[in-house]
Amino acid sequence: MQHVAVPNGTLNVYAQGKGTPLLFVHGFPLNNSMWQPQAEMFSKRNRVIVPDLRGFGESTVTTGTVTMEEFADDLHGVLHGVWVDTPVVLCGLSMGGYVAWQFFRKYRPQLRALILCDTRATADSPEAAAGRHKLAETVLATGSQAASDAMLPKLMSSKTVERWPDLVASVRSMIVRNKPTGIAAAALGMAERPDCTDLLSQIDVPTLVICGQDDQITPSADMQKMAEAIPGAQFVQIPNAGHLAPLENPDAVNGAINRFLISLDARPAS
Ligand code: MLT
Repeated sequence: MQHVAVPNGTLNVYAQGKGTPLLFVHGFPLNNSMWQPQAEMFSKRNRVIVPDLRGFGESTVTTGTVTMEEFADDLHGVLHGVWVDTPVVLCGLSMGGYVAWQFFRKYRPQLRALILCDTRATADSPEAAAGRHKLAETVLATGSQAASDAMLPKLMSSKTVERWPDLVASVRSMIVRNKPTGIAAAALGMAERPDCTDLLSQIDVPTLVICGQDDQITPSADMQKMAEAIPGAQFVQIPNAGHLAPLENPDAVNGAINRFLISLDARPAS
C-alpha cells in the first residue's frame, strides 16, 4: 500500500502489476479490500490501482459532505500520483459506479472502458435521501456500527450469509473500522448526487455491466435496463451473489472481467 497525495489529503492506494491500468472503486461503506480477489488475479496482467476513497480505510477523512464529483477528482489525483498516464479501465461497485459517472463526465480522455457492478444511474428519491441524512446523523451520534446494522443485511445474498459466515464477519469489520465522519460525508454526498440517466446514451467507451442475481439494493432487472441504455454494453448476471458480487462469487466476476479485457485487447481505443 502507498499513500498518494491528492488535493486536501492523502489516499491509501494499492498499486501493483504492469499492463493496461485497471482502477477499482469500492462501494459504501467499505474500503479497498473489497476488491482483493480481483486485485490478486488482475495484477498478474494489468496495472491494478485500488484506492481507499476519501473518508474510508486509511485515507484522509473529510468532514461535512463529500460529493461523487469530489471522489472522481480524487481518482484523477491518484492516477497522476501513481504515474498512470494511459487511459484506464474503471471498475466501480455501487457508490463506485456513482463516482464512475462523474469520472466519465469530467475525465473522459482518461477512460479506456467502464465496468459497472451492482450500481444505478438514477438519483435518490426524496425518501432515500432523507434516509441517508438519518443514517449520517445516527452514525455521527453513535458510531460506525450503525452503518453496519443498516447495510449488512442488504449487502449479501441469503445463500452467501448461510455459507460464508467468515465473509460476513470480514465485511462487518470493513464497515466498523471506517470513521463515522467519513461514512457520514459519503452518505450525504450520495444523497445529493445528480441523476445520470441522460448520460447513459452518451457513453462511448466499451462497457461491461455486472449484477449479482440476488442483489436487493440494485436489482438485476433494473441493471439490465440500465445496460440496454448504454450503446453496445454487455450485461452479465452473476449467480449465487447479491450486491457484493465481486466478493460473493469472485470466480464468476473475474471470469466476466477477464473476457471483457480480452475483448478490449482486440479493439482499438476510441
Ligand atoms: C454501495 O454499495 O455503495 C451502496 O449500496 C450504495 C447505496 O447505498 O446507494
